[in-house]
Amino acid sequence: MELSEAIRGRRAVRSYTDQPVDDAALDRVLRLALRAPTGGAAQAWGLLVVRDEAVRREVAELVIRGGATYFALMRPRADGADDEAHRAWAREYAESVMASYRHVPVFVVGLVVPRGYPADFPDGRDDDLMSLAFAFENLMLAARAEGLGTVPTTAFMRWEKPRLKELLGIPDDAEPEIITPVGHPTAFPTGLSPALARNRRPWRSLVHRDRYGVTG
Ligand SMILES: Cc1cc2nc3c(=O)[nH]c(=O)nc-3n(C[C@H](O)[C@H](O)[C@H](O)COP(=O)(O)O)c2cc1C
Repeated sequence: MELSEAIRGRRAVRSYTDQPVDDAALDRVLRLALRAPTGGAAQAWGLLVVRDEAVRREVAELVIRGGATYFALMRPRADGADDEAHRAWAREYAESVMASYRHVPVFVVGLVVPRGYPADFPDGRDDDLMSLAFAFENLMLAARAEGLGTVPTTAFMRWEKPRLKELLGIPDDAEPEIITPVGHPTAFPTGLSPALARNRRPWRSLVHRDRYGVTG
């Protein structure tokens, strides 16, 4: 698959079959992820691959529960709905979006694993986080080229990170920042996501020429 095809074809996949993911394909994806640029060549990252069925299901529950908390916070409430009714709606909505996470064969958790910074080097963690994001983009594109779906997922971390750390035995000095299911999509979405279809900014309006504000 051409790179541009993988970039355009990578879409947020939230509906998966339970078809197994080939070990060799997953290894290729993980290796390409870790070829991303890494600040100071520090490799201050880790990818935690969850394949065990029981653990996967618990991860899925955390993602879905955190998703419900997110939707309750971010989505407008129906006319007349009280707190409980709105929370119940958010739980049902999270279910409808993410139920297939319960049988997706793989989750990959992206971790920042700091390697230590010189005392006079401020904000090193920002670089670590950026490096992890680059690795995740590589991972998602490589997965797409293998016919596998992913979706970068961070919202639930705000509420569920401590439980995720405990479940996966992640020590205090490593931080999970992002997770994705990896699996065969029921279908790859095409066209723009509904949110982008509403709000897509023309690319030229986001490119500044020589001086901020000179666009078009
Ligand atoms: C930093 C970041 C965090 C995201 N967090 C979530 C998330 O928590 N749950 C989710 O379903 N999608 C999440 N997404 C996916 C976006 O919703 C998605 O990329 C966006 O709607 C555009 O759709 P597309 O990826 O199909 O082009 C996240 C994406 C990014 C870049």
